[in-house]
Amino acid sequence: MLVTNDRIAFEKYHLYPTKGLLNDPNGLVFFKGQYHVFYQWNPMACNHTYKEWGHFVSNDLTTWRRVDTALKPSLENLDSAGIYSGAAFVKDERLYVFYTGNVRDADGRSVKSSQMWAVSDDGIHFEKLGELFPHPEGFTKDVRDPMVWQGDNGHYFLILGAQHDNLVGDIIVYESTDFRTWQYRGSILGDQLPDVRGYMLECPGFITVDGKQILMFSPQGLTPDHINHRYENIHNTGYVIGTFDETTARFQVETAFEEVDQGFEFYAPQTLVAPDGRRIMWGWAGMMTPEREAAVPTIDTADWVHVLTVPRELHVNTNLQLVQQPIQEILSPTALAIHEVDHLTPGQYRVQTTSDWSVALGEHATLKRKGQTLYFKRHQWENETIDGRQITGDIDDLLLIVDNDVIEVYTEDGLQVMTGRYF
Ligand code: FRU
Repeated sequence: MLVTNDRIAFEKYHLYPTKGLLNDPNGLVFFKGQYHVFYQWNPMACNHTYKEWGHFVSNDLTTWRRVDTALKPSLENLDSAGIYSGAAFVKDERLYVFYTGNVRDADGRSVKSSQMWAVSDDGIHFEKLGELFPHPEGFTKDVRDPMVWQGDNGHYFLILGAQHDNLVGDIIVYESTDFRTWQYRGSILGDQLPDVRGYMLECPGFITVDGKQILMFSPQGLTPDHINHRYENIHNTGYVIGTFDETTARFQVETAFEEVDQGFEFYAPQTLVAPDGRRIMWGWAGMMTPEREAAVPTIDTADWVHVLTVPRELHVNTNLQLVQQPIQEILSPTALAIHEVDHLTPGQYRVQTTSDWSVALGEHATLKRKGQTLYFKRHQWENETIDGRQITGDIDDLLLIVDNDVIEVYTEDGLQVMTGRYF
């Protein structure tokens, strides 16, 4: 993947900021012949005190161009401290984006969030349209990350991640018939999924893949289960498959909550539909673990932090599981006889073997197969403790996408993926 107009063009496959901090992908859309990837961006510092929507554009998903920031905070406004995450919706040949405006007090604490929107005719220049509706009753200020779709009944639905006053996470839904006035319809989940609410659910997405309806979201505050290797990151992202009932505005959950990626860094994904119908996802290959984030080595060497994952094509298999593969456009793997190398360098590799193996990544990480388990171990760069992530299953045929400081491992059937940074 080529990113043009760069200051530091050294990531081969991953979109990254020229400077400052990148987090969630936002507003992913194919619009008037171009793919747009917006992203949470603080160009001024490698921290989260300020956010605007940075912007990459591509005609073909392989060559990306940086264009000017799409949306910036307006001082004195409801988005004075940040244009937080949100999504795109195309209607009548106009690109609408929905986002959360963030306001901070004099001490820098986030004190208010508002759901807002903006519109563009060319996908590049946006006009802000203001606040969508008042803050819902019964929730703390933590209500954010709008995503909109049109139902089969023609109505528009908008979901948000939310925190109840009793500090439990939820996803709430609004409905509109005219795309302008929104009616609050309550929790999309009702009392389902009590175990994965955490204290906040961020970045909800409702998508259809191979005819199946999927709700994807990022809970904060789940208890890690180190025995079954679930929820081992500070924040986690997963999905359920089910059915959205447009009359009741409830999502009937039909599968267990499963994590999308088993690695160290994966969060807040979004998707778009390509003109050929493929559902393509990008995630944030980052994690807001304050100490670790502040110590990421690229901050000192090059003044930037975090990357997006590569674009992944999504499918649902016959067992109702989400499967993911890097899109065809970026693939050119070479066969890797892994017992002949001791260090992985950037590139794409197909590893086909039933034997055990081990290989180093950078100076502080290793990828190691033992039996039917693949281990990704690293010395955490902030304190030198060793931590690991792992996948168990069919690992005889793996695809490795290795960049300067990030790796994505895909099993052949796309059922398991493991993403992480290494230095
Ligand atoms: C997820 C998130 C979103 C929020 C954004 C702010 O990483 O916390 O909930 O809108 O980042 O940058």
